[in-house]
This record gives sequence, C-alpha cells and structure tokens, in this order.
Amino acid sequence: MKKTLLIAAVAASMLQAAPSQDIQTANKVAKELLKTLGGNLKKHLKTKGPIDALEFCSTHAYTLTQQVSDKFGKQIDVKRISLQPRNPANTPNKEEAEILRSMEKKLQSGAKPKPVVISKKDETIVYKPLVIQKKACLICHGDIEKNPKLAQKIKDIYPSDKATGYKMGDLRGAIVVTIKKEK
Ligand code: HEC
Repeated sequence: MKKTLLIAAVAASMLQAAPSQDIQTANKVAKELLKTLGGNLKKHLKTKGPIDALEFCSTHAYTLTQQVSDKFGKQIDVKRISLQPRNPANTPNKEEAEILRSMEKKLQSGAKPKPVVISKKDETIVYKPLVIQKKACLICHGDIEKNPKLAQKIKDIYPSDKATGYKMGDLRGAIVVTIKKEK
C-alpha cells in the first residue's frame, strides 16, 4: 500500500515539467563527475593496478564527488547512490531506493533505463542511471574472489560492502543531481 502511494507520488511529481535548463545542468554535472572519477580510476588501474586503484577510490571518490558538487556552486548537489552500496554514505533514502528499483525493473524488462526527473517546488532532482558497461568495473564490483588480495582489502576497508557480484549490463546505481531553485 505504502509502496503504491510512493510510486503514485513520484509519477505525479514527474508530470510537473522540470525546466529544461535544469536537465541540461544536471547532464553537465553528471558528465563532469563521471569524467573526474573515471579518469582517475583509469589512471590508477593502468599505472599501479587494482589494489592501488581501490585505495585511491576509497580515499578520494567521496571527496572528489563533493568537490565536483562545490565547483558548481551552492544551488547544486551531486552524489552517487546504490541499492548495494560499498560506502554506506551512498545508501539511498526511501524515495531514491524506489527510483532505483524502478530503473532495475526497466532493465530487467529489456529496456534501457531512462533518467528520472523529479520536479519539486523548490528543487529539481535528476537521477541518471549507472549501468555497468565496462569490464573494468567488474574487477572491484564483480566476482571479486578471483583476486583474494583485493577481496580482503575491500573487506578491511568496507566491512559491510554490498557492491559485488555484478555482471555486465547490471544497474550499479545512479548519479543524483539536485538543483535548488534560487531564492
Ligand atoms: C579499483 C576498484 C574499483 C573499480 C575498478 C570500480 N570501482 Fe566503483 N567503487 C570502488 C570503491 C572503493 C567505492 C567506494 C567509494 C567511496 O568510499 O565513496 C566504489 C563505489 C562506487 C559507486 C558508488 C556507490 C557505492 O557502492 O558506494 C558506484 C556507483 C560505482 N562504484 C560504480 C563503478 C563503475 C560504474 C565502475 C566501472 C567504470 C567502477 N565502479 C569501478 C571501487 C572500484
């Protein structure tokens, strides 16, 4: 019952048109975040391998995300969420989890999940799905037991890690961009 209500609320709020400028801003912010995180990840994987890349992600991914957010000013916030988070700080709230589940359903039905735009009175929230499209993602989010040293390191840093067992084409999570209306 509760779930149906929430979906209805989400659907209703989606009907409210979000300014196309907000969607453009969200695309720009998400692109910048992907470029920043992806570029660093690639560099570390290539030069020193998965363990070094893991250490880099664990010490920098969250702060780099914060930095990208700050770069776009006070009205903008960007973060990553997942139903199976590695960093507990990336755990979705109820509304966010509902949206991730709707994206997962879409993917399971064979369709490509689309960005979800929620337009509220004082903010627009854009959810951009993150589907695993690169094999490199699976080094740390797939069958990690293939690399026992890496698996141990992940357990040491993230004792409650849930971000493993993924396959190509799975939904890893979403980038959430919030654009606050100017007051
Ligand atoms: C070298 C290991 C490594 C690789 C390769 C890797 N990740 Fe991660 N990933 C991490 C770590 C560590 C975190 C937690 C970062 C933090 O503490 O904020 C993480 C977190 C995430 C999150 C945030 C949600 C969560 O679980 O906390 C997403 C989304 C994500 N990764 C997607 C990807 C995608 C997509 C790829 C492939 C392009 C990828 N990762 C490749 C190590 C990796």
